[in-house]
Amino acid sequence: MTAISDVSGLVAVVTGGASGIGRGIAQRLVERGAHVVIADIEKGPLDAVAEEIGAVGLRTDVSDAASVQALAEQVVDRFGKVHLLFNNAGVAPEAGLAEMTLADWRWILDVNLHGVIHGVHAFLPLLKEHGEPAYLVNTSSMGGFVADMPGLGAYATTKFAVMGLTEALAQELRREDSNVTAAVLAPGTVRSNIARSLRTRPADADTSSFVQNDISQNAELAALRWLDPAEVGDIVLAALARGESHIVTHPEWYPMVAEHSAAIEAAFGRAAGTHKGEL
Ligand SMILES: NC(=O)c1ccc[n+]([C@@H]2O[C@H](COP(=O)([O-])OP(=O)(O)OC[C@H]3O[C@@H](n4cnc5c(N)ncnc54)[C@H](O)[C@@H]3O)[C@@H](O)[C@H]2O)c1
Repeated sequence: MTAISDVSGLVAVVTGGASGIGRGIAQRLVERGAHVVIADIEKGPLDAVAEEIGAVGLRTDVSDAASVQALAEQVVDRFGKVHLLFNNAGVAPEAGLAEMTLADWRWILDVNLHGVIHGVHAFLPLLKEHGEPAYLVNTSSMGGFVADMPGLGAYATTKFAVMGLTEALAQELRREDSNVTAAVLAPGTVRSNIARSLRTRPADADTSSFVQNDISQNAELAALRWLDPAEVGDIVLAALARGESHIVTHPEWYPMVAEHSAAIEAAFGRAAGTHKGEL
């Protein structure tokens, strides 16, 4: 396991860095002296945020493997190596699972899951090759622990997958005593533009069931604790300094996870009663 407490002089790449959580992480990295590349599909916000926080902005579509590969090549051309990768770009449109079109499924999987896979594929060899302490952080969600969120079943599908991918990767890296640590970030509610995710959907889908509800009109959601993205940046950097592989932002939401685990425990209990635990 590698812990990184001093990021100054390190090279970091943050996907989805033009907004929200990615921007918050990038901002804190720059403030602590890292060389930061933000990668995002939205060119206007990307250029503006890069200038504002002192990062390099490279337009990238994480759903496109060639675009992420080109990002990796540009980062190496410019900085020589990479130490920190944040696979953070993501979308959260809403639809009932029964109503979704296959194009809806493809888009959300392409961005939220394949985007992360493309990042791992293009960058993991680069993180390993210099042998210096390195970190790969994939953004999942509390929706990666618990799927019970109305309208966000497809989102939870992708975030469970990112959780599984990252846990497997963290174990694989640990077993090989790698210089790279993998971690999954599971934020709770954070102020961002995620409620406007459909803005980044390519215009090629003829039919879609995705909608984007105005979360400011949802009293239950509004009552939750909302973090500023830079606070998430602080939480993430503190976790890197401790070498953690699970990063959460809302400790008060643990009962939700415990309730889910208890339901599974109960199923095992019933199976033990029925089958006496025999295989
Ligand atoms: N905000 C929250 O409450 C919350 C909670 C849990 C998890 N998350 C996760 O955090 C991550 C960041 O989301 P956010 O809340 O900051 O949202 P956001 O919309 O503010 O930022 C997401 C960024 O990703 C970019 N993006 C979207 N599609 C892309 C693509 N194909 N290629 C490259 N960039 C792309 C967007 O342009 C945007 O800049 C997401 O993975 C999201 O699922 C957010």
